Amino acid sequence: MKLIHDGFLELNNIISVDNAEVLAEKIINTIKKDKPLFNEDRGWCWALYKPVFLKKLMKEVKIIIEGTSSVKLLPTYWFTTIYTNNSYLRPHTDRPSCEYSLSLNLKSETAWPLFFKDKNNVEHGFITDVGNGIAYLGCERPHWRRPLISKNKELYIQTFFHYVNAEGPYKSFADDNNKNFRNLNRK
Ligand SMILES: [Fe+2]
Repeated sequence: MKLIHDGFLELNNIISVDNAEVLAEKIINTIKKDKPLFNEDRGWCWALYKPVFLKKLMKEVKIIIEGTSSVKLLPTYWFTTIYTNNSYLRPHTDRPSCEYSLSLNLKSETAWPLFFKDKNNVEHGFITDVGNGIAYLGCERPHWRRPLISKNKELYIQTFFHYVNAEGPYKSFADDNNKNFRNLNRK
């Protein structure tokens, strides 16, 4: 089980480029009247917590990660971020709701790697194409993105999908319902 062993795994062709374009357009429509907000963990960006039109894809991604890990999962939440010039992702590990996570590229006009640190403290950077993603163990592997240089303010849109092991220590975080952590430190 490469995901369990390494803590991160590239997964290609999760959705088609056409499907990604449709979803990216819905996301842009949803935020078009909003200004980006500053978050010290990400810089300036837009964010959507559990947009309803991604619920079906959350279920499909769950099956993909279960297939690659042989772990039965429970969904916690999904979270879309829309990055622009100077956005970043500060190095961090995630809260318990993100035990099993996946970052899916929905729109990118610039190569912008997502980095992970492995168990030996070696850094690995992954550039994904649209429709591809990286599954990772969010509570274990530190991850980050360096500042995005997007001269023409192109957007970089990705969605996180988060799950917990249905039989693991974080199962009480299913549906992101554990009140001790709810709404804190979303990443
Ligand atoms: Fe994270």
